[in-house]
Amino acid sequence: MQIADRIIIVTGASAGIGQATAVSLAKRGAHLILTARRKDRLANLAADLAVYPGRILCIAGDIGDTTFARVLIERAITEFGRVDVLINNAGVGHQSALATMPIADAQTIFNVNVLGLLAATQAVIPQMQRQGGGQIVNVSSIVGQRPLPMSGVYCASKTAVNFLSRSLRMELRHDHITITLVYPGLTATEFADAKLGKPGSNRFGLRGVPSEQVAAKIATAIEKQQTEVYVTRLDWAFVHLNRLFPRTFDWLTDRAARRMIF
Ligand SMILES: NC(=O)c1ccc[n+]([C@@H]2O[C@H](COP(=O)([O-])OP(=O)(O)OC[C@H]3O[C@@H](n4cnc5c(N)ncnc54)[C@H](OP(=O)(O)O)[C@@H]3O)[C@@H](O)[C@H]2O)c1
Repeated sequence: MQIADRIIIVTGASAGIGQATAVSLAKRGAHLILTARRKDRLANLAADLAVYPGRILCIAGDIGDTTFARVLIERAITEFGRVDVLINNAGVGHQSALATMPIADAQTIFNVNVLGLLAATQAVIPQMQRQGGGQIVNVSSIVGQRPLPMSGVYCASKTAVNFLSRSLRMELRHDHITITLVYPGLTATEFADAKLGKPGSNRFGLRGVPSEQVAAKIATAIEKQQTEVYVTRLDWAFVHLNRLFPRTFDWLTDRAARRMIF
């Protein structure tokens, strides 16, 4: 699919992977609907993107509020008449033990990472069916396939995203709607600072790959209609070797996480 002139919604566009994706798609001539809670960040990004030919519309709100998620899609359809791609990227993590983390934090994580994504997806499907096709890109994580200690609810939310996406792929197989799962590994963004629990304590955070590298993979996934996307070979190996040696990986992951994250 050619990106120029496509109507693309990016959630979580005020920072990190979402922001880099918006820049990358704007450079390729897409019309963008950008959303996140921080209005000022969205406005600054829209001003930066004004040099590119596509139209940019910012709609601020909390994607964890499923009513907002639906209103977002309805507004996009009203303003642009169609939606070619929905990129469900907004996400939040935590750094806290499952034994003691507040249930309210777990609810926030599931509301944003899973239910907001599902509500936006449900709202866009009828439009994509009417227009004869589209693409939904869900930004998951390698830790949805191989959990880490101290972020069990976040990992579980990404596993939920993986399974929802794969079910949807089967349910929509006759509708020409491509469901793409992107599995980033550690990426240098503000994600660690925004974590619930103990934000800012991830010393390893900024050593990840640049968010532009993930954004480039997302752009290619749209152009080539890819369905399963890893950002680096190491991420791919991490997931697949884990399947072969799960107990060794439990030991290795626990040790590495304790040295690098806590
Ligand atoms: N960084 C990594 O190492 C990594 C690795 C694998 C996967 N991922 C995934 O990549 C995606 C993007 O993360 P990132 O690394 O770019 O993190 P980030 O820099 O913290 O950006 C997160 C984005 O999500 C938005 N967001 C968070 N809560 C929201 C809410 N309730 N409503 C609306 N928007 C909300 C934030 O905007 P506002 O705060 O303005 O609302 C921000 O734009 C997430 O799904 C994350 O799970 C990240």
